[in-house]
Amino acid sequence: MHVHETTAAAPAPEGGVLVTDLSPRGVGIGRLADGRVCFAPGALPGDTVRVQERHRGQRSTTVQVLELQEPSPDRRDAPCALAGRCGGCQLQALTDGAQRSWKQRHVRETLRRIGGISIPLPMLVSDERSLGYRNKAVIPLARGDKGLVMGFYAPDSHRVVPLQHCPVLDPRLDALLPGLLADINGSSWPVYNEASGKGALRHLALRVGANSGEVLLTIVSRDRQLTDIHALARHWMAEIPGLVGVCLNVQPERSNRVFGRQTLCIEGRDWLIEHFAGLRLQIGPDTFFQANTSVAEMLLPHLRAAFAGTEQHLLIDAYCGIGTLTLPLAASAPLLLGIERHRGSIREARNSARINGLSHVRFEAEDVSAALPARLGDCTGLLLDPPRKGLDADLCRAIGEQAPQRLAYLSCSPASLARDLRLLLEPGHYQLDGVICFDFFPQTGHVETLAVLSRAGGPRAVLPVPRAA
Ligand SMILES: C[S@@+](CC[C@H](N)C(=O)[O-])C[C@H]1O[C@@H](n2cnc3c(N)ncnc32)[C@H](O)[C@@H]1O
Repeated sequence: MHVHETTAAAPAPEGGVLVTDLSPRGVGIGRLADGRVCFAPGALPGDTVRVQERHRGQRSTTVQVLELQEPSPDRRDAPCALAGRCGGCQLQALTDGAQRSWKQRHVRETLRRIGGISIPLPMLVSDERSLGYRNKAVIPLARGDKGLVMGFYAPDSHRVVPLQHCPVLDPRLDALLPGLLADINGSSWPVYNEASGKGALRHLALRVGANSGEVLLTIVSRDRQLTDIHALARHWMAEIPGLVGVCLNVQPERSNRVFGRQTLCIEGRDWLIEHFAGLRLQIGPDTFFQANTSVAEMLLPHLRAAFAGTEQHLLIDAYCGIGTLTLPLAASAPLLLGIERHRGSIREARNSARINGLSHVRFEAEDVSAALPARLGDCTGLLLDPPRKGLDADLCRAIGEQAPQRLAYLSCSPASLARDLRLLLEPGHYQLDGVICFDFFPQTGHVETLAVLSRAGGPRAVLPVPRAA
């Protein structure tokens, strides 16, 4: 929602504001006394807060919370000391149960409002672990008053909030942070300065195979001249449990894109092996892998069910990344094709297919919008897992017209999913068999949603019923 800015900040009308909802980015939403919607960062549903207007708009306004007059019954002490200051998580102070209810409600409301879809949602699928689940961290580095700092950005800024400990991170990675900070601080490496575009160090990227225990460490730097990096890399290889490689990614661009095109392997190898769904997957420093391994594994029975009960010939996984979802579906069809535009991901997907002896699973490095329409004629099952912005309208129309027997659409944005489902259903060739939400990112406002469609008149997909975590 767009908020119009104003020049002067005025005090809000007398009386408290009751917060009733959260924005998709985890900002509290309530109404001022004059009926305008207000966005209150840090406030949670059920809180009554005293506020001051900051950015006034015609229909909505952003406010600053001055006082928590009446806390929500769903509030708790945040498990992270940086909650509210660090922009990484937004819902730390909300109980796990209330977070899940809100996510479920948010998806249901968004489907109704944008997609015109009313469908009962089964229980959200979640792991009992709501902390320590992240298998990956990409941590900005900055120059502080007392030397190097590492930490995530404060909400809506590029100001680094220094951290030593991140409770959502896999404990094996979390334990490394203080030592790595001290080691990097002890080097003479200059830190990148966003304003001037000078300096070198930009990010520290860590990845762990949650099941295999293998760790990969990558320094992202504007240039490759980091004195004695080989010596430090050898020290890390000797000291860090599970470390299989140290890489240097070179990112010279003045942009928000974390990784540059070139990755140099400094020590060990530039990939780790993860055990996922009984397979061995090769994962590099900069390729996409689901950040919550165990919830990603919980997704698989739902995907298999989406394609069961029909005769499958060709199952296409569009936006397949490194084949994380394609390869575990290998038994669902005699031929599978993964399409992905990032060449490094396709290289890893092909390697993983080879390592696991799955020669009927192919991967092509192509743009989905350009390549998929021509393949829809042969396709009996289609898995879509696009980035946040969702699908092009033309692609939705092409899929809705050709209607492969089964369609599974996994989305990280309820709004773009709702918009695309409306277009996919419009020609009338599809029926919606089920929608189910997954809590991949506890403590944050993110929710992942799977929608399963079958060709109208054909056998419907039957999804497993989730059980409580
Ligand atoms: C949300 S990730 C999903 C990856 C994979 N399904 C998984 O579960 O690991 C989306 C992927 O789509 C890729 N992508 C984005 N736009 C694309 C496009 N137009 N054509 C092909 N791939 C694209 C990205 O590189 C990324 O790997």
